[in-house]
Amino acid sequence: GELLILNGPNLNLLGTREPAIYGSATLDDVAQVAIEAANAAGFSAECIQSNHEGDLIDAIHAARGTAAGIIINAGAYTHTSVAIRDALAGVELPAVEVHISNVHKREEFRHHSYLSPVCDAVIVGAGIHGYVLAVSYLDKVLP
Ligand code: DQA
Repeated sequence: GELLILNGPNLNLLGTREPAIYGSATLDDVAQVAIEAANAAGFSAECIQSNHEGDLIDAIHAARGTAAGIIINAGAYTHTSVAIRDALAGVELPAVEVHISNVHKREEFRHHSYLSPVCDAVIVGAGIHGYVLAVSYLDKVLP
């Protein structure tokens, strides 16, 4: 099967964006480790990044029928988007929410996620290794 690995707004700036919080790895590094982990587990993987809420929603819709599971770091939309939550709920695919930073150690407004209730697992604060952990989880639970 295929895994959709979705990254939201500002994650294209990884590596240069607030490195004390997000580290020095780039989005290309994320794609590389995630795809490598997916391939090692027998999945193919597609990595998509968008700064646009609607594009993320379209990608989630398109995953229905093509992907076996979704790994999503929705960035700040995590804390604001009922629409992305509804898209995840609508496609009924196994989904893992990932955050590079430990959002619970940070500002109060990052403590709430609209997405967590419709995701099967949530991985926060593990850095980019969180994407590998998400692949590992999906490998365990998918048939
Ligand atoms: C993030 C955490 C969010 O609060 C923030 O808006 C991001 C990145 C993370 O990966 O730690 O853009 O999702």
